[in-house]
Amino acid sequence: MVAVSKAESKPLRVAVLVSGNGSNLQVLIDAIQAGALPIEIVGVISNNQEAFAVTRAKNAGIDVAVLSHVASGKRMALKTFEKHAFEQLTTWQPDLIVLAGFMRVLSAEFIEQSPAPMINLHPALLPAYKGLDTHQRAVNAGDRVHGCSIHLVTAELDSGQVLTQALLNISPKDCGESLQSRVQQLEHKLLPWTILLLAKGVLPLNNDDYTASPYLPSLPLKLVI
Ligand code: GRF
Repeated sequence: MVAVSKAESKPLRVAVLVSGNGSNLQVLIDAIQAGALPIEIVGVISNNQEAFAVTRAKNAGIDVAVLSHVASGKRMALKTFEKHAFEQLTTWQPDLIVLAGFMRVLSAEFIEQSPAPMINLHPALLPAYKGLDTHQRAVNAGDRVHGCSIHLVTAELDSGQVLTQALLNISPKDCGESLQSRVQQLEHKLLPWTILLLAKGVLPLNNDDYTASPYLPSLPLKLVI
C-alpha cells in the first residue's frame, strides 16, 4: 500500500472584531475546539467593554483588546480607535480579519491599509438592505426570501464582493424579531462554512482572485438549509 503523506498546513490566523453578544464568535471557538475549523483566533477586538463577546474570548483563552467606544462618558474618536486597532492587528499578524457583529463603521483609510483582508457578516441578502434594521425592512417590503451575507469589506459600506449567502423563506407569521433570531441561526452555519472555504483556499481572500469558469459556480455561493 502506498502511504500518501499530507503536508501539515498552518492554521489560518484570524482576528475577530465584535461589539455585542458574540454568539458568532462562540460558534467559531466551538468549531475550532471540535477540530472542524483549521484556524487559530489570534485575537479579538471589542469596541464595547460590556460586550459578552469579551467574556467568551477570555474564557477561551484568546487575547482580547477592549478599545471601548465610550469610556467615562466620552466617545473614543474613530481615528483613535483605528490607530489602536491597527497597532493591535499588526502585532497579531492575522491572515484574515472577521467583523462578526462589529457595529462601528470603519474609515476608508483604515480599510485600505488593513494588515489583512477583511470580511463582514451582514444580516440581509446583499445588495438588498445595506445598513441597519434589515429584518424589519424585509418584512415591511413584503419579501418572501431573506437571509444573511458574508462579503469582502471595502471602503463603501456593505458593498464589497459578496462571497456567500444563507437563505430562508419568510413566513406570514414572521416579524422583525422572529426573523432576527431565524437569520442568526443561519449566520451560525454561514460564518464557519465561509471561513472554512477561505482557509482551504476555495474562496478568495482578495477581490480579484476568484475567476469564474465553466467548472466553478459564480459568487456568491449559496447555502440553503
Ligand atoms: C449578528 O446578527 C449580525 O448579523 C449583526 O450583529 C449580530 C451579531 O451577533 N451585524 P453576535 O454578537 O455574534 O451574537
